[in-house]
Amino acid sequence: MILRLLAAFLLCLVAPRAFIDNAFADDTVAWKTGREAAAIERRIDVLLAKMTLEEKVGQLHLSGRGDGFDINQIKTGRMGGVMNFVVPSEVLAVQHAARESRLKIPVIIGLDAVHGFSTYFPLPLGQASTWNPKLIEEAAYWTGREARAAGIQWTFAPMVDISRDPRWGRVLEGAGEDPYLASVVAAARTHGYQRGGVATTVKHFVGYGAAEAGRDYNSTWIPTSQLHDLYLPPFKASFEAGSMTAMAAFNALNGMPATAHRGMLTDLLRGKWGFKGFVTSDFGSITELRLHGIAKDDAEAARKALLAGIDMDMMGDVYLKHLGNEVTAGRVPMKALNEAVRRVLRVKFHLGLFERADIDPAAAPALMQTQAARDVALKAAQEGVILLKNANETLPIAAGVKSVAVIGAMARPEDERVWTDPAGLGRRIIQALPEALKERLPADASVAYEPAFTKACGTEFADKAAAVRIAAASDVIVAMLGEDCEFMGEGASRTNLGLPGVQQELLEALIATGKPVVLVLATARPLVLSWAEAHVAAIVQTFHGGTEGRTAIADVLTGKVNPSGRVPMSFPRSVGQIPVYYDQLPTGRPEKVRQRYESIFMDEKNEALYPFGYGLSYSRFTYANPRVDRASVPMNGTVEVSVDVGNAGSRDGQEVVQLYIRQPVASRSRPLRELKAFEKVALRAGETRTVRFKLDVARFGIHDDEGRYVLDPGSFEIYLGGSSRASETVSFILTKS
Ligand code: BGC
Repeated sequence: MILRLLAAFLLCLVAPRAFIDNAFADDTVAWKTGREAAAIERRIDVLLAKMTLEEKVGQLHLSGRGDGFDINQIKTGRMGGVMNFVVPSEVLAVQHAARESRLKIPVIIGLDAVHGFSTYFPLPLGQASTWNPKLIEEAAYWTGREARAAGIQWTFAPMVDISRDPRWGRVLEGAGEDPYLASVVAAARTHGYQRGGVATTVKHFVGYGAAEAGRDYNSTWIPTSQLHDLYLPPFKASFEAGSMTAMAAFNALNGMPATAHRGMLTDLLRGKWGFKGFVTSDFGSITELRLHGIAKDDAEAARKALLAGIDMDMMGDVYLKHLGNEVTAGRVPMKALNEAVRRVLRVKFHLGLFERADIDPAAAPALMQTQAARDVALKAAQEGVILLKNANETLPIAAGVKSVAVIGAMARPEDERVWTDPAGLGRRIIQALPEALKERLPADASVAYEPAFTKACGTEFADKAAAVRIAAASDVIVAMLGEDCEFMGEGASRTNLGLPGVQQELLEALIATGKPVVLVLATARPLVLSWAEAHVAAIVQTFHGGTEGRTAIADVLTGKVNPSGRVPMSFPRSVGQIPVYYDQLPTGRPEKVRQRYESIFMDEKNEALYPFGYGLSYSRFTYANPRVDRASVPMNGTVEVSVDVGNAGSRDGQEVVQLYIRQPVASRSRPLRELKAFEKVALRAGETRTVRFKLDVARFGIHDDEGRYVLDPGSFEIYLGGSSRASETVSFILTKS
């Protein structure tokens, strides 16, 4: 024993912090297997046999803090889950109420802990911009840990909806346009949250991100092959990483509302994929089946949703009111109800809720915004910064610069809407950009600040003249602009993707001063930046960096950090180009036809302004000598692809080495490029390193119109480089055996 303690103590001294957290406070939640899983099924049998019809229905009822919440429903066994509780003492009251119920079944406590709880990390799209899965996992871990410390057991994340339409306001919650990157991110976030102690909800099943015209909640029309190749892979990745629950989407998929889609929820998810957890509806989406036009009343909506495979009714009250009757009347078999209840109880047992101690409200505050969490928040914010343009090496701000004007209310955090702390668990500390810059610039450089807008949204001017005056008197202008307030998130679709409000007018006035302008963007989506690209000296893109967001921006602007973020979702040149994404199919048009008959726009280029995978650095990276370890590979084999990557710049930096494939001849038309691997590598100035990818070629196939997986033998081209326009190429032949 003493030896073990000594070993543990020595480990503390040498182990990295993440390991220590894991070893000494392991709250990891995961599916149990073998005997443990079998024992849980027996406990569920025993419990189910004791439950009344009302208690069973109660397990499927998810209600939330706020008006209409009735804690007595917990005491009488009529509520299985709660949401939106963030104050630890209130969470404790919920837990006590469950103990007062007849069968003492714990209530599962859920929350949208999307990109932070007390410490905030960049928006998920900003996390995806890091192309650093380990870091993304850590951000989810700390989000989970803080939420867990406040009594949350279940997060409504990750959202893994593929998004190719920046008009949609929720692109900020996902990982962008590519199924491979999104799958890697989905797995990382699922692992992170569950290691932090909360069960995940992979959402929104399925196709929500394909809303027509990017209008939130709009119908989606997705062919079977595309569903399998594009929209389903991140869900599969999250389930394979152990996600315990899923959320159905609001939208109709090919004419069938996702909340009543038995083909997806039952045949595919439970049948083909073997998912054992539960599925919750989205907020009130069961009753919305009436509005979709597939149920005449709530009773029918409840019946259709349950029979399709929705286990929990989020904020609808529809199961609570109608499911009992539907069962009694024989319209819903008791067996179907029991199965749904079993799935909810199963998750509760696997989470250990029956054994878990109640939350200790007194202990919670000390676990928020720890230095370790903030370190991760800073690193994630730094690595998520994407340098889109840097003419004449405007950045980093040169030593000779004596005055910097910071313009735009977004530069100061108190103007930003998302950062109020609901739980009263300690004030969020966020540095403002002017102060962060001042700290990092030489002592003789001055930093002036003018908000220019009345609030961060930038819809109305405060003192435009003052902003222009200060800007004109400085050596460099840093304009922090973008989208905030009502311009981002759910229900915030836009048809105009310019800077909101008066911000474009402001930017033009700043350009007119003739001083170099660095445009720092905090947006919720890729905006149309064509005007800025043509007029602004440097563009720095962030997707709301969180607690440490502005510190990270100051680090990049001053050169303390070499930017390494990469575009997760193509930036269009104009709204008319949308959707614009890199993995297009060939159009079939010959390369040289009369211009009139090419697949082009008369008034716009085809290519994105900033393509997927793109991002500049203060270093310049070189690629040479791409090679494969074998010229032909059998279908169940692997191929190793290598390339020499060099840092030809004078600063240490990080490059995201990307590998794309193309199969030029196959049984179906295949995209011109498909991302299949990437690695973020740190390279010292002057260093060259061989980067190797070992690829399992079985994952190079696609799906046909029936959803069958097809892998065709033949030649595969491989492209290696620092964006989806990668040009170093090599090939191999895939053989049948
Ligand atoms: C959103 C979900 C979210 C839920 C609960 C819904 O409107 O679509 O993503 O988890 O609200 O807040």
